[in-house]
Amino acid sequence: MEKLNIALLFWGRSSEHEVSLLSAKSVFRWLDKEKYAITLIEIAQDGRWMMRQEDFFDETAQNTPWEPVMLPPESEGVLCFEWENSRCEKMDVIFPILHGPYGEDGTIQGLLDLANVPYVGAWVLGSAIWIDKDVMNRLLRDAGIPIAKFLVYRDYETIDEKNIIDTLWLPCFVKPAGNGSSIGITKVTEKKWLAGAIQEAFRYDRKILIEEAIVGREIECSVLGNEKPQASLPGEVVSFESFYSYHEKYASDQKTQIVIPAKLDEATQEAVRAIAIQSYRVLECEGMGRVDVFLKENGEILVNEINTIPWFTSYSMYPKLWEATGMPYDTLLNTLIQLAVARHESRKKVQIAHEYHKTLNQEESDWDNI
Ligand SMILES: Nc1ncnc2c1ncn2[C@@H]1O[C@H](COP(=O)(O)OP(=O)(O)O)[C@@H](O)[C@H]1O
Ligand SMILES: [Mg+2]
Repeated sequence: MEKLNIALLFWGRSSEHEVSLLSAKSVFRWLDKEKYAITLIEIAQDGRWMMRQEDFFDETAQNTPWEPVMLPPESEGVLCFEWENSRCEKMDVIFPILHGPYGEDGTIQGLLDLANVPYVGAWVLGSAIWIDKDVMNRLLRDAGIPIAKFLVYRDYETIDEKNIIDTLWLPCFVKPAGNGSSIGITKVTEKKWLAGAIQEAFRYDRKILIEEAIVGREIECSVLGNEKPQASLPGEVVSFESFYSYHEKYASDQKTQIVIPAKLDEATQEAVRAIAIQSYRVLECEGMGRVDVFLKENGEILVNEINTIPWFTSYSMYPKLWEATGMPYDTLLNTLIQLAVARHESRKKVQIAHEYHKTLNQEESDWDNI
């Protein structure tokens, strides 16, 4: 059987490159080498694409030579390597394992669409919704899915602190609309900290959200699929700090625990899975997505956000939840690749332009009749 050519894209321009590298290492390790020929492409922080050799993932080999590579528009996935005598190689599927801006936000997905190559994960629209928590919230709210109360400000608007506190109370959460990884997010417990928190959030986006603080458990659910998405068993993030902050996500001394599966009664578990699938559909996701919710003590479930390229190391929540649901990591990868191909095939059926020549001929004959 001929192997499928898979290109892994990793590292990337966002601050989540360390996790991207770990995710890519795991994906590389678990992809079936009998089925797939794998090309490794590091996207440097300045945006350059660099082809790496397999040994790049060994700690000692990270300074090995690299080869410049590019993916031209309409190339059908043909990568062009620009080393001395240029050569080209066609990829069957591209797997972006890039977290955060310029990876998860529709920009890379747009490039892959222009190149007309199948790729893993949400397409441009679903990815772009991810980068804007305001748009995400409005879509969820429009679908009747419960979310936290929130206000939105842009950097050219006057901010009325009294209105914020009267509407949302304290504590509240101030966050940039974009980004991820808890960067620029502050839990404001006293009015005197509000202005500083707002300023901090505006460092990362021109639009910010201020949300009421939800008191509840943080539950996460993995969703997989295109037209018929399935939800995994839910897991829980147990944070011993005031919230699941950047430090808690990254630092070696973080105390946050991940509980898989979350200890929930059957009815709550099913309710979380149902709301996760509903949110996934509403937010135009395909391939995969991790839906994060708050579970209040009274049983109410509020959706916090979706991540379209969730962290993917073998110990990350997304694959771990699938493992707990009965799908091992390597099967999950096979499924994601199949979903990428299936989505690409189904989108091919959509006509982009109307049938130009037919219309033109019709118009020409119309002119003849004048
Ligand atoms: N409205 C809220 N109420 C309570 N906690 C929140 C709220 N919004 C965010 N948090 C806390 O902050 C963390 C990061 O916020 P989130 O919106 O998920 O941003 P990111 O996209 O950076 O992960 C959450 O995991 C949660 O711990
Ligand atoms: Mg989050």
